[in-house]
Amino acid sequence: MNLKDKIVDYPNFPKKGILFRDFSPILKDPSALSYVADEFSKIFHTKDIDVFAGIESRGFILASILASRYNKGMIMIRKAGKLPGKTSKLAYTIEYGKDTIEIQKDIIKEGERVLICDDLLATGGTAKASAKLIEKVGGNIVGFAFIIELVDLNGIKGISKYNCKSLVKY
Ligand code: PRP
Ligand code: ADE
Repeated sequence: MNLKDKIVDYPNFPKKGILFRDFSPILKDPSALSYVADEFSKIFHTKDIDVFAGIESRGFILASILASRYNKGMIMIRKAGKLPGKTSKLAYTIEYGKDTIEIQKDIIKEGERVLICDDLLATGGTAKASAKLIEKVGGNIVGFAFIIELVDLNGIKGISKYNCKSLVKY
């Protein structure tokens, strides 16, 4: 399957100069969805992973699909102010703005092996901040799973020490 056929480009969204790559049609198509899970299950091995982490909000979707496929659990890296209990947070910048993400301090046991999931890697600001947070609360990062990578933005630079896989590159 060619996933690029299912990704729709929107110029100047959400800001002038940004070419937004929308993966919504992949989610709508059951065969594209199971193709995504199949492809990652060839790349990452179930014995190496304890839990999948999804980055709010589009990353929640991939993390949940993969967690279900691998018969594992899922944890949420959320935008700040939405998680109860003790948390760690970190500010970061993305291709079209800035934000703060947060994780519950006790959600990961020391040494648990975490695969971080998101729909798309652009500048890598989100991914790098997520890695820092997971490590801060005691997780071991197995790698990153992205559906889409915007290669020209070189987001991989900030997370190159990890095993990073994307299914579609632009
Ligand atoms: C998007 C995308 C990634 C991030 C990538 O999320 O889902 O998380 O941007 O950009 P970066 O590599 O430049 O950091 P966004 O913050 O727009 O939130 P959303 O998933 O709720 O749409
Ligand atoms: N997140 C950051 N940059 C993006 C882009 N160009 N398209 C879709 N999501 C994004």
